[in-house]
Amino acid sequence: PSLRTPIIAANWKMHKTTAESKQFVTEVRDPIGNMENVTIVICPPFTAIESLSGCLSGTNLLLGAQNVHFAEEGPYTGEISPAMLTELGVRFVIVGHSERRAYFNETDATVNRKVQAALHHRLVPIVCVGEDLAEREAGQTFSIVESQIRLALGGLDASAAEQAVVAYEPIWAIGTGRSASAANANEVCRHIRQTIASLFGDTTANKIRIQYGGSVKPETIQDYLQQPDIDGALVGGASLDPQSFVGLIRAAI
Ligand code: G3P
Repeated sequence: PSLRTPIIAANWKMHKTTAESKQFVTEVRDPIGNMENVTIVICPPFTAIESLSGCLSGTNLLLGAQNVHFAEEGPYTGEISPAMLTELGVRFVIVGHSERRAYFNETDATVNRKVQAALHHRLVPIVCVGEDLAEREAGQTFSIVESQIRLALGGLDASAAEQAVVAYEPIWAIGTGRSASAANANEVCRHIRQTIASLFGDTTANKIRIQYGGSVKPETIQDYLQQPDIDGALVGGASLDPQSFVGLIRAAI
């Protein structure tokens, strides 16, 4: 296991209405809402954030968003600013998820601007990186994640960078039921940590939490968390069902 407090985050993607989100919290609040030594984050759709903010208060469950715009405000139809999120008690935001890179034109440059904007507003960015299947098969995994990290964290100083969380999500493992082995995921997470060390120094690299994401299940989460460089999980499908989510958290501590 790593020396850092594990962070388990639920990325609900485009699932759950507000009513469904509240129902989920009602079911998980008692079993996991007061657990210690683990950071638990729920990232619902934007529309459910305000209601969940009320339901989660007084618990250890923290709120995250799935995206944010980098501008303070302005003519950006359909976008949400960092201040709009912090006002509702949001503490984390997923930035650069591969689905946003693939379907919504997110680039390393926009990821970097979003990371900077989030940190400026004291939102913790969960910065997603990961290779696709062709890149993996071409032996480019390390170079792809290294370049994504260098660009995403570019322009930060060490004290800002160490606030961030990184999520290593190999694209071929997302929602596919295929997952990286724990040992292999750890190798890539270690390479990410070494990249961070080369940018900001060992102290920052040793503080930053790195999650694995990609078909994590209650039955497999422990394998990942036993690795020295994996500090948590970013979970899609298995975070949608309350029992399964409780199972993930119980297995993680
Ligand atoms: O962000 C989490 C994610 O992309 C992994 O999804 O469904 O494979 O756990 P899933």
